[in-house]
Amino acid sequence: MTIQEALKNRRAVRNYLPREVETEKIKALLDCAVLAPNDRLRQPWHFYVIRGEAKARYEEIAREFLAERFPTKPHLVQESLAVLEKTPLVIVATADIIPGDEASSEDNEYAVCCAIHSMWLAAGELGLGMVWRTRGIGLVRDERLLQFLGSPENQKVVGTLFIGYPEADVPPTARASADSKTTWL
Ligand SMILES: Cc1cc2nc3c(=O)[nH]c(=O)nc-3n(C[C@H](O)[C@H](O)[C@H](O)COP(=O)(O)O)c2cc1C
Repeated sequence: MTIQEALKNRRAVRNYLPREVETEKIKALLDCAVLAPNDRLRQPWHFYVIRGEAKARYEEIAREFLAERFPTKPHLVQESLAVLEKTPLVIVATADIIPGDEASSEDNEYAVCCAIHSMWLAAGELGLGMVWRTRGIGLVRDERLLQFLGSPENQKVVGTLFIGYPEADVPPTARASADSKTTWL
């Protein structure tokens, strides 16, 4: 598969088969992640692999978060939790924050975004499906997630990645043309 084909075939995959992701495949994804470009080679990322018992604990904090966030929408809470329970593997990606250096901290976040995208493409090649989540059960902006990770100092969560073997093919999303998003000066 060429890079252009991989980019065209990439999908946000949110539904998975009840099948564990092999440890070698998880390591292959992470090996691809750390190849991402990054300013001054700070390699400003950390990845937290969440499965098994750790995932059960993640589900607990997600349950608390959703119940607080959507107190009048029990169906939404249940549906979101069902999606999480059916997800075999969760990886949280964080970026190093450099106290007093906002610009470098921002660049670190951009580098982690590149790493996540590399993982997304590699997942497709490995027969896996992935979605980058920030909202809802992604818990990216919830303080509980940092506590769950062990309250690492000076790390910001950039993305929570849900990963598994796809349950079904996902159709492509419609995109505005590059032309309509480009100004040639
Ligand atoms: C920064 C970022 C945050 C995202 N957060 C969520 C999310 O919280 N929940 C979700 O279902 N998808 C999330 N997505 C996936 C997008 O919704 C998805 O990429 C978009 O619908 C386009 O679909 P495609 O990737 O299959 O082309 C996120 C994607 C990015 C890049």
